[in-house]
Amino acid sequence: MELVPASARFEALIQQIGINRWRGLAPAKVNLHLEVLGKRTDGYHALETLLVPINLYDSLSVDITTDSRLSLTCNQSSIPIDDRNLVWKAADLLQARFSVPHGAKIHLEKRIPHEAGLGGGSSDAATTLQLLSLAWGVNLPTAMLLELAAELGSDVGAFLVGPAWGTGRGEIVQSMPGGAELWLVLAKPPVGCPTGQVYKNLQFEEATVNGEAILQAWQSGDVGLLAKCLHNRLQSAAFALQPPVKRLYDRMKACQPLGGLLSGSGSTVFALCRDQAHATSLANRLRASCGTEPLWMAVARTLTPWPGMVPRSPL
Ligand code: C5P
Repeated sequence: MELVPASARFEALIQQIGINRWRGLAPAKVNLHLEVLGKRTDGYHALETLLVPINLYDSLSVDITTDSRLSLTCNQSSIPIDDRNLVWKAADLLQARFSVPHGAKIHLEKRIPHEAGLGGGSSDAATTLQLLSLAWGVNLPTAMLLELAAELGSDVGAFLVGPAWGTGRGEIVQSMPGGAELWLVLAKPPVGCPTGQVYKNLQFEEATVNGEAILQAWQSGDVGLLAKCLHNRLQSAAFALQPPVKRLYDRMKACQPLGGLLSGSGSTVFALCRDQAHATSLANRLRASCGTEPLWMAVARTLTPWPGMVPRSPL
């Protein structure tokens, strides 16, 4: 059920493993807070969110080439491996903007589920930008990487800075280190929630929740307090769009986590747990309560402290 051993720790998410060979990890995320402040004139929504990376990863293996061609392969045949893929878009954008004469052969190993609210595609793009910026010798500072990230998607920038407070349409990010490692159970039914449709379903009826309380709880590392502050404005819209997500959420709450929430626009729900033992036992109870229903599940922890993107000891 667990996709990366809980004990696995990484010095950095990007490593150089040969003269022209690099490896990168692209972590998933959960949102502990997501408030929608209103609709903008460009069609996007103004939001405030606390986005936290976790130890569930896609991985990228990259060979730098002397010619300028890009190529992409993937372990999952349903994932496009052309310019519809955010990895391709990120590589192409960096190469074109900085007239890079080199190319790259990229292999993407997907483990983060798709249309799940876990930021898989965005994280792949962020890792590609950071990795190729180093491997191609462009060496962009974070501020410039963030500008490119914003062109690729609303969530991409957050993955460059680790735990982040996101504003604007999500692309304006402020690093927000957490006070403690948190243990979570993630679960998702075999349906996805297309982000655009969830936003369309949104009703603006209730007063907005400001992020002060969750930010204090996050920085203090008080997991009980955090559980009380979890909030996601997209949750009822996603539940209305995909009733199996609501049924799974109800089952998860019946297993008595400290708190439970939809991540992003779904379809993953997560349970906030006291510690690893609590998470493992809750995961087993949830699995049992779902019988033979198909279900994706993982026990995960937040990446606290954030391992960072820049390799500490390049070759
Ligand atoms: O920016 P990204 O491509 O990740 O957004 C996917 C879709 O989600 C957008 O096309 C838009 O419909 C919706 N969205 C939004 N407001 C945001 C972020 C995303 O309406 N702040």
